Amino acid sequence: MIRVEQSTNLKAKPPQGELGFGKYFTDHMFMLDYEASQGWHDARIVPYQPLTLDPAAKVFHYGQTIFEGLKAYHGSDGRVRLFRPEANIARMNRSNVRMSVPELDSELFLAALERLIEVDAAWIPSEPGTSLYIRPFVIATQALLGVAPSEQYQFAIIMSPVGAYYPEGINPVRIFVESEHVRASVGGVGEAKTAGNYAATFMSQQTAKESGYTQVMWLDSAQHRYIEEVGSMNVFFCIDGKVCTPALSGSILAGVTRSSIIQLLESWGIEVLERAITIEEVYEAGRAGLLEESFGTGTAAVVSPIGELCWRGEQLLIGDGRTGALSKRLYDTLTGIQYGTVEDRFGWMR
Ligand code: COI
Repeated sequence: MIRVEQSTNLKAKPPQGELGFGKYFTDHMFMLDYEASQGWHDARIVPYQPLTLDPAAKVFHYGQTIFEGLKAYHGSDGRVRLFRPEANIARMNRSNVRMSVPELDSELFLAALERLIEVDAAWIPSEPGTSLYIRPFVIATQALLGVAPSEQYQFAIIMSPVGAYYPEGINPVRIFVESEHVRASVGGVGEAKTAGNYAATFMSQQTAKESGYTQVMWLDSAQHRYIEEVGSMNVFFCIDGKVCTPALSGSILAGVTRSSIIQLLESWGIEVLERAITIEEVYEAGRAGLLEESFGTGTAAVVSPIGELCWRGEQLLIGDGRTGALSKRLYDTLTGIQYGTVEDRFGWMR
């Protein structure tokens, strides 16, 4: 049972052309509490509001927190569609297990998403390229400094009408290959969607920005050779007619968009190799003129072409710095499925 408390103070909606990413939030939020003695309880939709937390809450000190990201789309036929919510729910529970957070009931999670979207349906933007970004998250709320899993948690879902994630949109971004700092290591928490994985990237991201790069490409922690992710996205390369992406090694996030892109490519008869890929190999292919395209994939930007890399001071232009045909086809097809203009042969939309 989900209780609903309607807001009596509805906010003005921002102009759809100025949404940006994650700046505005809808009128309501979903909340659920956890106590060791009661389990998850008190499912409710309430007016969007600040949280009141004890300064000793474990989330502030030990970072026991997880989030997810998924989108709802306003179709051209007027229907609202969610993209693969079950995949995000399953991943959140995998992250929960890794971070010692009690698992959430998948059915309640899905019901909460659907009910919250219904309550705030008027917030789903309808202009091309816009969607409703949904951010479920869990935080450890127990006020206790002992270094052990919290015995209290809050789970919440907030929602934000969004436009393009990168101002570049589907235009290629410039990427700095980080060969000193790393995002995650095998055996660590890289495949969990936990806050620290993101905070760990900010320093390199800032340095890259100062040199005119949009984001950073991450290499493995042991040898600083194997490509892992780009920014907060999974990464793909088209080399000499073949598509490859780093295999999920434990330190890489299992992207929902990543798996969808692989399925799409395979449905077109294009084999995708999930394997170890070195930065040397990518540069060699690039120098030999065999690196046709590269792109990042994620919920926020969907497909983001990489136009240029910089590794150890050497620039590598990819596809003349222009959006490649495959990147464009993938972006158009996946967003077409999401908006309901392309047939969803995979049963992804709900
Ligand atoms: C994505 O959806 O691609 C991300 O991981 C970015 C998100 C954390 C804003």
